[in-house]
Amino acid sequence: MIKQNLILGILLAVFFSACKPKQMPDPIELKVDSLLVQMTLDEKIGQMTQLCFSTITLNGSKNLDLNVNNFREAVTKYHVGSFLSGSDSIVKWVNFITNIQKVAINETRLHIPLIIGIDHVHGANYVNEGTILPHNLNISCSFDTEIIKKGAKVTAIETADLGLTWNFAPVLDIGKNPYWPRLYETFGEDPYLCSVMGTAFITSYENCPEIAPYKLAACAKHFIGYSDPRSGWDRTPSEIPWQVIYEQFIPSFRSAIDNGVKTFMINSGELNGEPVHGSKRLLTGLLRNELGFKGVILTDIKDIKKIVDMHAGADNEKEATLMAINAGIDMSMACNAYDFCTYIKELVQEGKITEERINESVRRILRLKFELGLFDNPYPRSDRLAKIGCKEHRQVAKEAALASTVLLKNENVLPIPMGKKILVTGLAANSKQMLNGAWTFDWLGAPEERQPKNMNTLYSALAKTFDSNNVTLFDVEKLTSEAQQKDFAKLAKKTDYIIVTVGERPYSEFKGNINDLTLDAGQSDLVLAAVATGKPVIVMLFEGRPRIIARFVDTVGAILFTGYPGIMGADAIAELLSGTISPAGKLSFTYPAEVGHQVPYYYKKSEKYLPLYPFGHGLSYTSFEYSGLQLSDSLITRPDQEITATVYIKNTGQIEASEAILWYVKDEVGTITRPDKKLCFFEKDILPAGIRKKYTFKFKPIDVCAYPDEHGSTVFEKGKFSLLVAGMQVNFYYK
Ligand code: GLC
Repeated sequence: MIKQNLILGILLAVFFSACKPKQMPDPIELKVDSLLVQMTLDEKIGQMTQLCFSTITLNGSKNLDLNVNNFREAVTKYHVGSFLSGSDSIVKWVNFITNIQKVAINETRLHIPLIIGIDHVHGANYVNEGTILPHNLNISCSFDTEIIKKGAKVTAIETADLGLTWNFAPVLDIGKNPYWPRLYETFGEDPYLCSVMGTAFITSYENCPEIAPYKLAACAKHFIGYSDPRSGWDRTPSEIPWQVIYEQFIPSFRSAIDNGVKTFMINSGELNGEPVHGSKRLLTGLLRNELGFKGVILTDIKDIKKIVDMHAGADNEKEATLMAINAGIDMSMACNAYDFCTYIKELVQEGKITEERINESVRRILRLKFELGLFDNPYPRSDRLAKIGCKEHRQVAKEAALASTVLLKNENVLPIPMGKKILVTGLAANSKQMLNGAWTFDWLGAPEERQPKNMNTLYSALAKTFDSNNVTLFDVEKLTSEAQQKDFAKLAKKTDYIIVTVGERPYSEFKGNINDLTLDAGQSDLVLAAVATGKPVIVMLFEGRPRIIARFVDTVGAILFTGYPGIMGADAIAELLSGTISPAGKLSFTYPAEVGHQVPYYYKKSEKYLPLYPFGHGLSYTSFEYSGLQLSDSLITRPDQEITATVYIKNTGQIEASEAILWYVKDEVGTITRPDKKLCFFEKDILPAGIRKKYTFKFKPIDVCAYPDEHGSTVFEKGKFSLLVAGMQVNFYYK
């Protein structure tokens, strides 16, 4: 019977396609049509529904022990087509996904495979044996697209064989609000950097030959305006002028679409008074029609219900469901309830939603499943699992941590010579959780006992790199008694260097909401106690956002931004301290000097930019001399003419080191006032000691000098422009 249906479906599809003007029918479209024409309304609605694994696991846990009854109800009664989340071992993942796919394919009428979503946002972070990469904010400080591409490949290889086809990554939000608790998930405050890094991840992740025959979907999130909430708190209103939306918030998402990203996830918050999940202007007008996105739009977790509960944007969930469908969502991350299924069906039966509208979303979802090869390869495979957590992947994690650690201050303290005695203390001195951060085996970051056994802490890595007899651990986050202060002072007397690790214990989303950026007082006290010993003090900032460190910034000898550097972070940091390799990271965000001053580096002329450390700041163990900046033309005759900028860079120090070369453009005058400067290109290169190299940057003025108005129309005004690199500047004119 099923075979006849399929043949009938294909014949119908061929007939309808034959009626269209002559063009080769898209084979996937034919398959989608042939399936769609057989589906009941319930089956269609099921494909638009995504449930959390906690709905189908024993006791609702993230561990993958199937509650068979709940699962059968989900796929046979509600025809649910997608699940998400979960964290467990390789073996458990393989068994769990194999079992649920078998039921979904063999025990449903049309045998449509499930699509499984996972938040592998910094490596295979929900697989116990997975490689945990540095978080995105770290990686963006590398200014090295090769690093993000290698990381994406490692993540793809460690994810695909487990049957986890849909990765809810990358975050493309602009990290310009230092209070926002998801800053560490972003690629920093610059729209161009976020675009380049995000697109590099997407293209590597969605085009990874090493995982054949599987294909994977990335997910551009969270569209749009999520990252600059007025209060700094997660999921609270953003009020952003449309000109700023076009100039700062759209570029990273537009680049993702232009480079083929298969899915989008929507911002849970509200933008300019509209809950984004209910906004036809944003989801259909802007995302679909203007930006041309044709893939699947997924809600964030329970966000249709939150239109009512969080935003009071609708009277009830049924109204909210109508809003979200009319706005343009395709799939609801309903997580643990079937209300979405119920309301959609009622709305169709009441004629408020047409079945054609349902078909639009189901087509996109079926197309996604066909494009990812899920109908041909729905099951995990076990013949390549040794790659998960392998040595080569760990090396990528270490390379990423080495490239992204930022040396903020160094008053002839680093590197530390061999043979010296080191005292290490603070909340990350002997912690694995502090290195991996949140979204590691658990939403908030698993506790120490569930962190990988085969991983160094900073203390153990220092002991390995220097000499275990010379490294002492004083394992406190802060000094809480006189006795402790005495012990600390006594230990300090016998040491040459004191490393104090400070920062923020891992947090996720609203769990990380704060009202004051100032670093915890007790941690600053610990730093000051170290300074009081008179020994050279090295502070390491293990944090998801720039906490204010004014109390000790002037008195310590060295400061490193270490962020959440991942499973090999300690090994990388120890190596940097030893001097075998020089730090080469640069800040992808502004580090504020004081609590009240939050201005990004693209500030306006009437503002003051008074950071502790500016965007692009980062020291090295060597020094680089820039010279000979020049342009092939200083007169723009056509907006699309090609201009070549060249500069020479010499490594004037004694050791080889990498350098991130950041090019900025400045538009002196604009009808819409122009920022002090805007990053327009970057590259990273290794320069041996004493070597001088020529670097070029080719550009078209229309690409780097124009800007969008509030309607998104391109504005390219005549006048004076400058190209800047490393404090050098050369002018060019459009007359
Ligand atoms: C969360 C996050 C989103 C994540 C999703 C699924 O609430 O906002 O980034 O992908 O839920 O875990």
